[in-house]
Amino acid sequence: MFASTKLIAAFSVVAAAASAVLAAPAVFNPSGAKIDVVYRPQLTAPVAGDSWPVGSEQTITWDTSDMPSEAEYQTGVLLLGYVEDGSSDEHLDIKHPLASGFQIKNGAVNVTVPEVDPRSDYIVVLIGDSGNASDKFSITVA
Ligand SMILES: *[C@@H]1O[C@H](CO)[C@@H](O)[C@H](O)[C@H]1NC(C)=O
Ligand SMILES: *[C@@H]1O[C@H](CO)[C@@H](O)[C@H](O)[C@H]1NC(C)=O
Repeated sequence: MFASTKLIAAFSVVAAAASAVLAAPAVFNPSGAKIDVVYRPQLTAPVAGDSWPVGSEQTITWDTSDMPSEAEYQTGVLLLGYVEDGSSDEHLDIKHPLASGFQIKNGAVNVTVPEVDPRSDYIVVLIGDSGNASDKFSITVA
């Protein structure tokens, strides 16, 4: 009992240190090399062609099958943006996250579609220790 409690405590310290490292933005990596522990879950919904009415509830999902154990307790932020053709600017609305503080390991979160202008090039970006964007989808007037 005593030994296993100590083991768990030691593991927690290691996990906390690991998540502190993971939380460091990838842009601070001076070599520019890919860091394999940085986890970018792939968004699986919305997909291209989806259409979300303003005010509706929608489920955003992502693939957690390749989630490293270091990311177990990580929380995420979901941002809405849009990408115009021929541009890579994601126009992320960082002031109004669609959702935040959820567990990335859950693989899904429900959001209410905000009152934004209708467009057909919206994306959602899941930010954990680094970002990953969905396909483009539409938001339409309700
Ligand atoms: C998003 O996730 C996919 C699948 O894991 C990966 O191939 C891609 O590089 C990621 N994109 C970014 C911008 O991290
Ligand atoms: C999202 O909403 C659906 C339908 O109300 C519900 O079945 C599902 O459990 C919810 N998912 C999450 C992640 O809250």
